[in-house]
Amino acid sequence: MAKFRKIGILTSGGDAPGMNAAIRAVTRKAINEGIEVVGIEEGYNGLINGNLRPLTNRSVSNIITRSGTILYSSRCPEFKTEEGMAKAIKTCRENQIDAIVALGGDGTFRGATDLTNHGIPSIGIPCTIDNDITATEYTIGFDTAMNTVINMVGALRDTCESHARCNIIEVMGRECGMIALYAGVASGAVAIAIPEFEFNEDFAISKFREAREHGKRGMIGVFAEGVSLDQEHKYSEYFVRKLQAETGIETKFARLGHIVRGGSPTLRDRLHATQMGAGAVSCLLDGKSNVVMAIKNGMITDIDINYALVLDRMYKGKLKDGDLDKFTQEQIADMHDACARRRARMENLYRISFELSK
Ligand code: ADP
Ligand code: F6P
Repeated sequence: MAKFRKIGILTSGGDAPGMNAAIRAVTRKAINEGIEVVGIEEGYNGLINGNLRPLTNRSVSNIITRSGTILYSSRCPEFKTEEGMAKAIKTCRENQIDAIVALGGDGTFRGATDLTNHGIPSIGIPCTIDNDITATEYTIGFDTAMNTVINMVGALRDTCESHARCNIIEVMGRECGMIALYAGVASGAVAIAIPEFEFNEDFAISKFREAREHGKRGMIGVFAEGVSLDQEHKYSEYFVRKLQAETGIETKFARLGHIVRGGSPTLRDRLHATQMGAGAVSCLLDGKSNVVMAIKNGMITDIDINYALVLDRMYKGKLKDGDLDKFTQEQIADMHDACARRRARMENLYRISFELSK
């Protein structure tokens, strides 16, 4: 068992409901193992500037129910520079921080890999509402975000029904359509637009028209923010005008925005955050580093961060020259398999959404 005296924990990138539950789990598991825990404020910024505070069993009391992050978060471009990294390593050395647990998305994991390469073993915990990390079937925050979306859409649906209107609702997710797809299906949307699949505009308009002709009063479309008309305009707002012009159906627009990043985390997010948080400390004790906690085939596991980042680029069609050179044929086949399974899951749901929208 590896020996650590003190570990640091930070939250970076966009916050996600469940981050606090993970902070609590890491802290309590580590303290249980005789390891001190220090909270680093505002992600990699805090590491660069030395903004640290000790975490105790008491300081993480009553946070499992709270959204946001008690350690605050930030995006920190300076961390990508050599000077920024040197300052971060200095902070670790001066404060005897032996290892780091970094909560965030793929950008945060790139930072964690850099830390490991500079001698500070680091472990990632996937926290992002977007569920856009290919190496894991689930990222902390996704379930809460989807539940917030279905509640908001439900409220909009009520008023749409009263006034025989349509409402196109745009939801976050960056380049990933998971939130829009899952929450759209669960909201009974007539149309769902996501960046992963081509959106057939004429077909979607005919769906709304037919539904109205068959007596449907209130109608919902859920569109991912990642679907763009051009570099400056989101597709959702354009579609609102187009649908109204072509069908005469009064159509409103709502952008849910950051509201889906808040709200008390759901059971699923609290549970996975707790399991992954405790798992991250176990990984460190087992001598593992540069891994990200993940859910694979429904089980909590850990995956090498470099593998996870390359797999992600493979899924997103962004592989760089030489990316696959370090992996065995078996690992590459596994990556293709993971990409195919993820795509199939989305395709299946997307198809069902069309079949059931009447
Ligand atoms: P997320 O972790 O949610 O993907 P970002 O992409 O904004 O969010 O990344 C969070 C932070 O991680 C960045 O602000 C930066 O400090 C760090 N980071 C991102 N990319 C890299 C990289 N290539 N190398 C080192 N650090 C990075
Ligand atoms: O990655 C989480 C996320 O909420 C995305 O869905 C969204 O595109 C982005 O972060 C918004 O970032 P910011 O909080 O910087 O506006």
